[in-house]
Amino acid sequence: MKKLLTLVLALCLVLSLAASASAVTIAFSQIGQESDWRTANTDSVNSAIEGHEGWELVYSDGQQKQENQIQALRNFITQGVDYILFTGVVTTGWDEVLAEVNENEIPLILLDRIPDCADKIDYVAAFGGDFPLEGRRQVQWAGEYLKSLGRDGEDVAVAIMEGTTGADAQVGRTEGNLAALADYPFMKVVAQQTGNFTRAEGQALMESWLKSVDKIDVLIAQNDDMALGAIDAIKAAGLVPGKDIIIVGCDSVKAAFESIVAGEMNATIECTPLYGPFVVDCIEKLEAGETFDKTIIHPEEGVYDCVGGIEVEGTTSVLASDVIDQRQY
Ligand code: AHR
Repeated sequence: MKKLLTLVLALCLVLSLAASASAVTIAFSQIGQESDWRTANTDSVNSAIEGHEGWELVYSDGQQKQENQIQALRNFITQGVDYILFTGVVTTGWDEVLAEVNENEIPLILLDRIPDCADKIDYVAAFGGDFPLEGRRQVQWAGEYLKSLGRDGEDVAVAIMEGTTGADAQVGRTEGNLAALADYPFMKVVAQQTGNFTRAEGQALMESWLKSVDKIDVLIAQNDDMALGAIDAIKAAGLVPGKDIIIVGCDSVKAAFESIVAGEMNATIECTPLYGPFVVDCIEKLEAGETFDKTIIHPEEGVYDCVGGIEVEGTTSVLASDVIDQRQY
């Protein structure tokens, strides 16, 4: 009996070793958890990998520090993982470590923020948002909404709350914000500074602006978390968000929909965090020996707001209250 038990245990060990030896190991270097968008992004990617038979996830949270992410990438190389998923906190400074990933022939998949060295390195696929388009849509929504209110005859004071300085999403959205403002000369920028994509810094920045800037009519916040933080500061200052200050966010997270329905935020531009299914499709194809079209994919579509029917580049806004129940994150 004892011999049989030993035999069964040994067999189990051999089988589990064989199973883990043949597992596909997918490593993910994430930026951190600065926003609701980021949490949804991490959940989407991690659960898609963990739920896939025969795949194992190695996850690293960079806590907003480039040096942590560089170290994580080098650890992935040492561990000999099969695939690396990567989104960088800023766009620059990745040339050397991504070249090391290439030298070790680990297929690299870029997610969300694309590094500026992308044209010099090999990657198998890239899934990211069209940040300049999102930035243009933010300003176009505000400009068209102001026109619908008959306010294009006045000087409208605009504050731009930027994301993490040097991040692809900040660089692209700022470029888009400024380009679109040229089409709305009645909108004048009176403040422009980073709120680092977090609710706390968005709140602190708005508190400081309300003390130092004469008048703010419109807030363009480069993500919803900063917009929501700013709304807390606006309310604390005795002003009415959504009316005294028109607020346009970006991401389209559930909390932004709730804020729009409550009459506090006015609009949010979609930037989907749901890359899990793209990652699964890509790796399944590569594992099957198929090639994958490495074109950068921009999956976001919607603009959601308090009025509906505002025309922006490539789409028309939808009332947030009509679709809030469909939003999961
Ligand atoms: O890179 C995408 C941006 O990063 C999202 O808009 C923001 O919420 C996140 O922090």
